[in-house]
Amino acid sequence: MMKFASVLLLFLTKSVWTLLPPDDSSCYNHCYQQPPEACPPVSNPCRCHRLTNCNNAAVCCNVNAFTLTEGLACANISSTTDIKALHIRNATIESFNLTVHQQVWKALLYMTVTDGHIKNIVGKFPKASKISCLNLSSNHINYIEEERSLVSLYNLSFLDLSNNNLTQVPRIRMDNVTLDISNNTNLPCSYLKELFNMSKLTFINENKTFCFTSKDFAWFQTTALLPFFQVKRVHEVQKNCVANCTCNMHRLNLSQGKLPSFEVAVNCSGKKYFTLPVPLPPDTILLDVSNNNITSLKELSHPSYQNLRYFYADNNQIASIQPLEGSKFINNFDTLSLQRNKIKLIETYVLDNIQFERNFNQRKVKLGFNRIQCDCNTKKLKIWLLSKLSHIPDHDEIRCANVDAKVTELDPSQFCQSPQDWTYYINYIITGEVLLLVGLIVKVSYDYWVFTTTGYLPWPASKMPRLPCDWLCE
Ligand SMILES: *[C@@H]1O[C@H](CO)[C@@H](O)[C@H](O)[C@H]1NC(C)=O
Ligand SMILES: *[C@@H]1O[C@H](CO)[C@@H](O)[C@H](O)[C@H]1NC(C)=O
Ligand SMILES: *[C@@H]1O[C@H](CO)[C@@H](O)[C@H](O)[C@H]1NC(C)=O
Ligand SMILES: *[C@@H]1O[C@H](CO)[C@@H](O)[C@H](O)[C@H]1NC(C)=O
Ligand SMILES: *[C@@H]1O[C@H](CO)[C@@H](O)[C@H](O)[C@H]1NC(C)=O
Ligand SMILES: *[C@@H]1O[C@H](CO)[C@@H](O)[C@H](O)[C@H]1NC(C)=O
Ligand SMILES: *[C@@H]1O[C@H](CO)[C@@H](O)[C@H](O)[C@H]1NC(C)=O
Ligand SMILES: *[C@@H]1O[C@H](CO)[C@@H](O)[C@H](O)[C@H]1NC(C)=O
Ligand SMILES: *[C@@H]1O[C@H](CO)[C@@H](O)[C@H](O)[C@H]1NC(C)=O
Ligand SMILES: *[C@@H]1O[C@H](CO)[C@@H](O)[C@H](O)[C@H]1NC(C)=O
Ligand SMILES: *[C@@H]1O[C@H](CO)[C@@H](O)[C@H](O)[C@H]1NC(C)=O
Ligand SMILES: *[C@@H]1O[C@H](CO)[C@@H](O)[C@H](O)[C@H]1NC(C)=O
Repeated sequence: MMKFASVLLLFLTKSVWTLLPPDDSSCYNHCYQQPPEACPPVSNPCRCHRLTNCNNAAVCCNVNAFTLTEGLACANISSTTDIKALHIRNATIESFNLTVHQQVWKALLYMTVTDGHIKNIVGKFPKASKISCLNLSSNHINYIEEERSLVSLYNLSFLDLSNNNLTQVPRIRMDNVTLDISNNTNLPCSYLKELFNMSKLTFINENKTFCFTSKDFAWFQTTALLPFFQVKRVHEVQKNCVANCTCNMHRLNLSQGKLPSFEVAVNCSGKKYFTLPVPLPPDTILLDVSNNNITSLKELSHPSYQNLRYFYADNNQIASIQPLEGSKFINNFDTLSLQRNKIKLIETYVLDNIQFERNFNQRKVKLGFNRIQCDCNTKKLKIWLLSKLSHIPDHDEIRCANVDAKVTELDPSQFCQSPQDWTYYINYIITGEVLLLVGLIVKVSYDYWVFTTTGYLPWPASKMPRLPCDWLCE
């Protein structure tokens, strides 16, 4: 009884469908897809059929290259027919050659090929194809061979490449395309980055979109899947950059228990800056402000500099390293480069606080081509330099302004006051001694004169005991 009723119901609905004019909008809105139940019945030798409930729509199921050709023919789907929407389900085709049925695709507005096993897609769509939605989701596609195979899709506005194994996204005309590339876990991030560069692209399923990062990002040795929003940051990093500067992703920070995040490198070299730029974009790890006219380092203590590790400010007008003292930067930095500045005095107490041990054995400080005013205190700098040679690659270029010498080879004692004072006293002593000697000679001569004229010795010679010499003299 139940069986009969359901068959009747089925019959009734079927006749209702055939009686009513099919409603296209229920079959395809911006894209077209049919469930497995819409497939031709197994009893049907033809693998494709037109839908009765939809105008101009057809479905092909469980096909291979050969049965697809057959199915298109037996369902009368050709360039001359009115089929606008086609869904091919569960196609098992190693190389899906788009060129083969070009004439059929030419008539389509919606083309959907899903849930199959297609290793790669070769050939190309015909010129002036009208397809506006192309859905190639869930096919295990490894690559789309021809880079330009989708370029002739002038009217493409939806492209679904999700749930495949793509390593590249083919070139498309991207005036206004919505793209789904979620769940392609072999897609290199560098490639995704290129995609952002193309004009108007809208990504959907962003939260399921990851990309594979390897050597395409600096520093990064192992591989990881990056969430889409991080890659998006890569793209937007330039937008949030400091005026007139270039921002790039420097490296990926993989801290345990956190999503991978990028660290930013900011390049402001040669941009006529007079002060250090503030604020820096979030997570700035590297700043290059070489070849500007920056005079001071005081902005280094700005909060936006807190993640900075690499700082290059060569060829500026910086006069002092004093503002580095106590800055977060000096505790954490990796590279500090201040070559060719106006530093005359290097405060060693600032440098003394730099740790070079253990965690910081990569640290580099460059101070070359500054014209150091050398004096007695330069000995502290010399000692510091000599003890840190491996961290100061340009130590041979740290030279004095006032004498022609490398600081590391300088004899600072030549400038020191204390040895000079000592020679000064020696002179006094020598002068005193000479005077004493002259006095003695004069006295002895006088005594002799007195003795020869008067016959007696004046004091004190007269009171002195006789010495053996005196006997000889007499
Ligand atoms: C897919 O098609 C093949 C034949 O090409 C068939 O053997 C298989 O059962 C189909 N898979 C599904 C899920 O329908
Ligand atoms: C195929 O479609 C064409 C054009 O719509 C039509 O003229 C022809 O009769 C159809 N043939 C079959 C076998 O359905
Ligand atoms: C695709 O098909 C076209 C036409 O049949 C053929 O010329 C071309 O060589 C095929 N391409 C590949 C890569 O098999
Ligand atoms: C593409 O087809 C799949 C079904 O296989 C569907 O889930 C997905 O929504 C379709 N994509 C679009 C953009 O309609
Ligand atoms: C293709 O797009 C253009 C402009 O976007 C439109 O005028 C034209 O009608 C579209 N063609 C088809 C077949 O939809
Ligand atoms: C991702 O795609 C694979 C096939 O390539 C599929 O088996 C898997 O279920 C998909 N995962 C998600 C989360 O959609
Ligand atoms: C996905 O692609 C990678 C690289 O192209 C390949 O090594 C891997 O075997 C592919 N996986 C599947 C399931 O095809
Ligand atoms: C882009 O496409 C969307 C959806 O297809 C549409 O709503 C929007 O108006 C289009 N924008 C332009 C500028 O063509
Ligand atoms: C992105 O576009 C800019 C100019 O618009 C170009 O300089 C840059 O090389 C492009 N990047 C990629 C990865 O294509
Ligand atoms: C995607 O992720 C963002 C941030 O993680 C979250 O705010 C948003 O709700 C997510 N969207 C969906 C559709 O899950
Ligand atoms: C950026 O460059 C432009 C043109 O060279 C200049 O007018 C502007 O002042 C610069 N902005 C900054 C912040 O240096
Ligand atoms: C910047 O410094 C250079 C020399 O270092 C000088 O020639 C130039 O005039 C300076 N620019 C300005 C705007 O002061």
